[in-house]
Amino acid sequence: MGKSACRFFIFIVIATFIYWMWSNCASRNQQIMTEDYEIMYQRLQFEYEKKQANGMKYVLIWTLPNTDPLMYLGQGQDRFIKRNCKNAKCFISTDRSLFDSITHFDVVVFSIKEIVEKKVTDLPIIRSPHQKYVFASSESSDYYPLCDDRFDTYFNVTWTYKLNSDISYGYIVVRNNEGEVIGPKEVMHWKAISDMDSINDTLKIKLKSKRLAAAWFVSNCNAPSDRDTFVKKLRNELKKFNMDVDIYGSCGTKKCPRQSMASCLQSVERDYYFYLSFENSFSEDYVTEKLLHGLQHYAVPIVYGAANYSRFMPDGIYLNARELGPQKLAERMHEIINDKEQYYNFFRWHKYYSFHQTEEDPETDIYCKFCEKMNDIEYMRKSTVLEHVRKWWNPKNVRTKVCPIRWTG
Ligand SMILES: *[C@@H]1O[C@H](CO)[C@@H](O)[C@H](O)[C@H]1NC(C)=O
Ligand SMILES: *[C@@H]1O[C@H](CO)[C@@H](O)[C@H](O)[C@H]1NC(C)=O
Ligand SMILES: *[C@@H]1O[C@H](CO)[C@@H](O)[C@H](O)[C@H]1NC(C)=O
Repeated sequence: MGKSACRFFIFIVIATFIYWMWSNCASRNQQIMTEDYEIMYQRLQFEYEKKQANGMKYVLIWTLPNTDPLMYLGQGQDRFIKRNCKNAKCFISTDRSLFDSITHFDVVVFSIKEIVEKKVTDLPIIRSPHQKYVFASSESSDYYPLCDDRFDTYFNVTWTYKLNSDISYGYIVVRNNEGEVIGPKEVMHWKAISDMDSINDTLKIKLKSKRLAAAWFVSNCNAPSDRDTFVKKLRNELKKFNMDVDIYGSCGTKKCPRQSMASCLQSVERDYYFYLSFENSFSEDYVTEKLLHGLQHYAVPIVYGAANYSRFMPDGIYLNARELGPQKLAERMHEIINDKEQYYNFFRWHKYYSFHQTEEDPETDIYCKFCEKMNDIEYMRKSTVLEHVRKWWNPKNVRTKVCPIRWTG
């Protein structure tokens, strides 16, 4: 074979090989395109169904679905249907690729706890002005202040325990004796204790079984509110009167496993004059279900927190530990325990008000409230921008451990 013939032969071989490669590739491409097309078709179908779904709101949980508090939202409509919500037209998803673009979600929810704790930097890259971004937190702002200024005009809706949130994420509901929800609210018009009737004999007999000063259920031992130090001081003061605080849970000597909570609360109801409703941190309006342990179980709550408690209950039905200090508080407890008439007055409210957990009724359930708001057509259409969200959320003095750069509100 001559040199040129050899070259030609090699050229033919290479050309054939390239053609074979190319044709192979093209058919594979076509296969990929068919698969893509199917996925796209499914999405289009889904979006079509979405439009047909008669006002269903599609809600994306952006942060991790299994962290508090959004894990209780579940998936799909389950949570809202199970709770008999008046409006259950909310579809919860954690799948960012449910639609071909995340802008098709009506609502995107962010857990503030996670954003702060994990310093989340992965945020949606595209956003439609029609979407509502929700700032959700059931935890206190003292624990989880926002440090990052990117969020100042980021959110559209607040869903927290703070009473001026757009949607309530609170722990407590107050009803009047007709069963109407009346609080908590920033301004309450309580009946004064002096205008309330004395308690009846049935209730007096019930209170006769009390024999111990105070109970405290606690599992988080080094909370930022420093309640532990306070209780130590209080116990020292109570010693003078031969009284004590019984501490249940991992920070004390008495046991109350989670599954026996009901029987522990029965013992509060039977044996204890007072119950310590001590919050883990100091934040405006941050009052948790610990208050109900006292109120619902006939033990006078001793509160310790930064809330204005008159937004939550009438004066004269509780003692405020932070205002009194350990010494005065111990003296008051001793005085009240030894004066039956004074003690009785702390229970006059029973005839006029009742205190409940939010999940007791779909009317007050925080998830039902969420879905209701998301289906408020006018509200959803309106542009609502939260300016200076850190000013609204952060406490005046952010603990430097949490925000590394000093945040000045
Ligand atoms: C607490 O709230 C009540 C009722 O809204 C108000 O009258 C009172 O001044 C508030 N107290 C403080 C310390 O802000
Ligand atoms: C006594 O008072 C309590 C609390 O107000 C009430 O629930 C109960 O029905 C009253 N009992 C009687 C016999 O009036
Ligand atoms: C949500 O907030 C963004 C950014 O502040 C704003 O541009 C948008 O108009 C708001 N949308 C709605 C529906 O409130």
